[in-house]
Amino acid sequence: MDAAQKRQALSYPKPTTAWRGEPQLGGWYTEEEIEAAVAAIRSSMDWTGEGFGFIVQEILDFEAAFARYTGAKHAISLSTASVGLDLAMQALDLQPGDEVISPAMNFRAAHHAIIGAGGRLVLCEVDPATLCADPADVERRVTPRTRAICVTHMNGRAAPIDDYVEIGQCHPHPEHGPIPVIGDAARAVGVGYKGGRIGAGGWCTIFSFHTMKLMTTLGEGGMVTTNNDALAERLTAARQWGGTTEYWGSSFKLTKVQAAVGLVQLRRLDEMNGLRIRRALERTELLKDVPELTLPPLPGECGHTYYLYTVFVPPEWAGEKRDRIRAIMLDEFAVGSEVANPPTYDTSPHIRKHTEGQRLPATEFLANRMICVPIHPLMTEEQNAYVAAVLQEAVERVRTEG
Ligand SMILES: Cc1ncc(COP(=O)(O)O)c(C=O)c1O
Repeated sequence: MDAAQKRQALSYPKPTTAWRGEPQLGGWYTEEEIEAAVAAIRSSMDWTGEGFGFIVQEILDFEAAFARYTGAKHAISLSTASVGLDLAMQALDLQPGDEVISPAMNFRAAHHAIIGAGGRLVLCEVDPATLCADPADVERRVTPRTRAICVTHMNGRAAPIDDYVEIGQCHPHPEHGPIPVIGDAARAVGVGYKGGRIGAGGWCTIFSFHTMKLMTTLGEGGMVTTNNDALAERLTAARQWGGTTEYWGSSFKLTKVQAAVGLVQLRRLDEMNGLRIRRALERTELLKDVPELTLPPLPGECGHTYYLYTVFVPPEWAGEKRDRIRAIMLDEFAVGSEVANPPTYDTSPHIRKHTEGQRLPATEFLANRMICVPIHPLMTEEQNAYVAAVLQEAVERVRTEG
């Protein structure tokens, strides 16, 4: 933006509480969600009735709607996405020495799931343009012990699932056949992919309805989609003490009230994502002439929900100067930011212990250049311009500081 536009944008009142780089509330509720929650509670108050139930009609309706929405054959709701990742990994029945490839730039949940299921976590680099697992690097790391490829639709961007599936087909496991692809879509529910939406490709896809996510079921919640009947049966069994099968199970159910709210959120998801995308594209337009910033990619065949709005500073600004930009934004303008995410071995001691000897230099360097600045579908045009102007101002200051 030019100097006059920036001055105007910076006249927005400084927030009294700093805005977070990753807001604590991803979407928002209307009266409809509140009414749905109240109705679900009211329907549970008769002691001769179903109470809050187990797998009640609201849950079945939410799952059916979610399967239709993603185009997947099955949708199995769970208490969190992390549980979905754990159960998917467990369903691989990993043997000692079995490997699962996953990008180092990630949230820790998928890596904990791999290690927890007894797998050897093999870290890979991401494509710096998309922040999703680099297919060429995934392929380089495939061995006869590779049992799964577990990728993340990073920060809301759809990962090229078909590319990983092809790699899995080209390098089948000697005993188990084509390598299954697991997609962590915790940050990407509703994102477009090749004319449809993610959720129907690969072996399974895991979604989160945690409070920070694009839609939420009262703060926690998850869903796994799959076209694989055997996996669907196993996950369904696992979430409720094994059901009528011989599979192990415990209790990982969503509640009736969460499902009732989820149905409304799902109906409103495209609207919420649409507003978020609109703000992101406006912001990209505002910042396009700041030469030091690499802005997030525009949606194409692989869509983007801009769960996080992620920018990069130049390589020579990695680390210290990047941190200085973040400090100016926070201290002087009350605009917070995140680095999402550094390699998981930097943030989780458990993962560090289990990936000893593995370093991903390109990922480490990329993380040192990264800044995620606040975005939300309810952000007004003025608030969005303020964030853009604050980022531009901080970059210009660092430029003149030398
Ligand atoms: C990429 C990613 N995967 C998994 C999770 C875990 O989701 P949940 O909190 O629903 O377990 C999160 C966030 O919390 C995430 O950002």
